[in-house]
Amino acid sequence: MTLSLSVATSHRQPWPGLIEAYREYLPVIEKTAIVTLLEGNTPLLPAPSLAKRIGRQVRVFVKYDGLNPTGSFKDRGMTMAISKAKEAGAKAVICASTGNTSAAAAAYARRGGMRTFVLIPDGYVALGKLAQALLYGAEVLAIKGNFDQALEIVREMAQSYPVTLVNSVNPYRLEGQKTGAFEVVDALGNSPDWLCIPVGNAGNVTAYWMGFCQYHQAGKCDRLPRMMGFQAVGASPLVTGVPVKNPETIATAIRIGNPASWEKAIAVKSASQGEFHSVTDAEILDAYRLLASEEGIFCEPASAASVAGMLQISDQIPAGATVVCVLTGNGLKDPETAIKHNQSLFKQGIQPELHTVAEAMGF
Ligand code: F0G
Repeated sequence: MTLSLSVATSHRQPWPGLIEAYREYLPVIEKTAIVTLLEGNTPLLPAPSLAKRIGRQVRVFVKYDGLNPTGSFKDRGMTMAISKAKEAGAKAVICASTGNTSAAAAAYARRGGMRTFVLIPDGYVALGKLAQALLYGAEVLAIKGNFDQALEIVREMAQSYPVTLVNSVNPYRLEGQKTGAFEVVDALGNSPDWLCIPVGNAGNVTAYWMGFCQYHQAGKCDRLPRMMGFQAVGASPLVTGVPVKNPETIATAIRIGNPASWEKAIAVKSASQGEFHSVTDAEILDAYRLLASEEGIFCEPASAASVAGMLQISDQIPAGATVVCVLTGNGLKDPETAIKHNQSLFKQGIQPELHTVAEAMGF
């Protein structure tokens, strides 16, 4: 009987989580107790409808990081930060967050047996993210202030009290997040020409660049992408060059006026010959709807900033170029924005009768 042999050979190795997958590129040691939810290995999806809009044989892909265990790219950084915190014997972690960091910190820290304190701007965190942090068991403090103020407080807290800071100023966060770039190169066989990415606190743009550079040095790709970062108009300090005291945008995830990785992001821009631009809330919402209704990809508003930005400056994309847009978070994080800002037919209060339903459908 050859049956058992063919079954055995067709079995694929399960994904081990990103630390195991990229161990040789990460600062882990033998005794690091890895806290993982098998994050990473997210799809790089072709976006044919976007490519068609741009034309000129441009290839467009989206890196759908909303498919991570807690629904955002933050899981990449958090598996590293929490594993290292555990290795160091931490009992509690703290972060400021516009929502996604708090969800990821809570999930990983609780799994690692630690307390999780999160500071969020009261009233400006999408519903799904707040629900996650609470259910994972974080201790949530909503301040009457914005993200920048929350970050200032948690930085001081971590200096004065026994709590480990897990915002992206923690270097292990960026180490984990750089694996997004590894996966893009592994999928394409090389770096893209452009990497379009939303920018808030500017950790992820920095991390992706670290990843591309490290893979380039290891001989995994023979070129580096231009890093194209996009901020919301009402929260675009890296575009205007001045901090924003009262940042405002519908994309609450990137409602940040004074990014912690400011200098690093500017260095990435110049080293990669990249550009930072701002996109309006209307452009963000257009890209958000377009991705969902034409590509079948539901991301959160902040993530759509990468696509909005690409479309805004698409006439600059060289013919035949390959562009990757990072979709940082899942659309389910923010159901309220989806329900409020779609253009779909939604008739309510219909009588449960065949002909009434048919009539409502336009038949
Ligand atoms: N996209 C999403 C969905 C985010 O949640 C964030 C940041 C960004 C993009 C920007 O990434 O800060 O590395 O430039 N969210 C943080 C948080 C601030 O608290 O969840 P960045």
